[in-house]
Amino acid sequence: MLHPEITSDETRAMHRVEGRVVIVTGSGQGVGRGMAHHLAKAGAAVVVADYQPDKAHRTCEELASLGAAHLEVEVDIRDPASVDAMVARTVAELGRVDAIINNAQTFRANAPVAEVQADDFDVFYRSGVLGTLRAMQAVHPHMRAAGWGRIVNFASSMGRVGGEGFAAYNASKEAIRALTRTAAREWAADGIVVNAIAPAAAPPRAVGSEHYDEFMRNCPMGRNGDPELDIGPVALFLCSDACRFLTGQTFMVDGGTFMWS
Ligand SMILES: NC(=O)c1ccc[n+]([C@@H]2O[C@H](COP(=O)([O-])OP(=O)(O)OC[C@H]3O[C@@H](n4cnc5c(N)ncnc54)[C@H](O)[C@@H]3O)[C@@H](O)[C@H]2O)c1
Repeated sequence: MLHPEITSDETRAMHRVEGRVVIVTGSGQGVGRGMAHHLAKAGAAVVVADYQPDKAHRTCEELASLGAAHLEVEVDIRDPASVDAMVARTVAELGRVDAIINNAQTFRANAPVAEVQADDFDVFYRSGVLGTLRAMQAVHPHMRAAGWGRIVNFASSMGRVGGEGFAAYNASKEAIRALTRTAAREWAADGIVVNAIAPAAAPPRAVGSEHYDEFMRNCPMGRNGDPELDIGPVALFLCSDACRFLTGQTFMVDGGTFMWS
């Protein structure tokens, strides 16, 4: 079926996020910071939410120097009240919440299955799984009322392939993917699409590690991902109107490395 009633301007607008309000958790550094830059340069009002206020502030100064609309919010995604306050402030100050990118997760040293402790699970679950869940619950009423919403969660190739030595992290990331699929089904009728990104954009601290070397050996494109230029455009698509018939999916944004497994 063709749509002669859809103009060129409307078609271009589908692929844009101008005027959209997008929360990016963990945007004080790394992948979140890169996505915040990409979305802001594309015209979104970005809520820079992080539990390291100095880093969130740095990202906001960068966005301010671009002349981009933004809001700085200190949030600890492990604390449900803090997550609720982040969303409430977003709506109070920017008038709406169109999309949320649940990128933040608190890390700790990983352990293999034989050694992993409940305490390790607590760190990864409270921040990754429960933090993502609470954020989804907090934005849902606003998105449902608008009849439109975009939720992007963060998974990992390590979880998908069961990478050795990352028991609690892997379990938390696969739980996030399960939550993504469940919400995708439950909220499709509300006009909300829910997807996940599994990125490969190792921070400088990981370069030279065994895991990083394995990634480089198996990456068809032979390079590390760039948070702004490689992960950012996928996040933008998943937050746009163009992402209208995809939900519950995980996008492996890793230069094709997923094909090794
Ligand atoms: N970088 C990669 O190659 C890679 C690979 C697979 C998955 N991931 C996932 O992508 C996401 C981003 O990864 P990254 O490498 O940029 O991580 P990072 O550790 O560099 O940055 C995480 C950001 O989240 C913030 N944060 C952590 N805990 C928080 C909390 N409780 N409340 C609020 N903010 C909190 C940190 O302050 C930091 O700014 C994570 O979910 C990670 O698991 C990354």
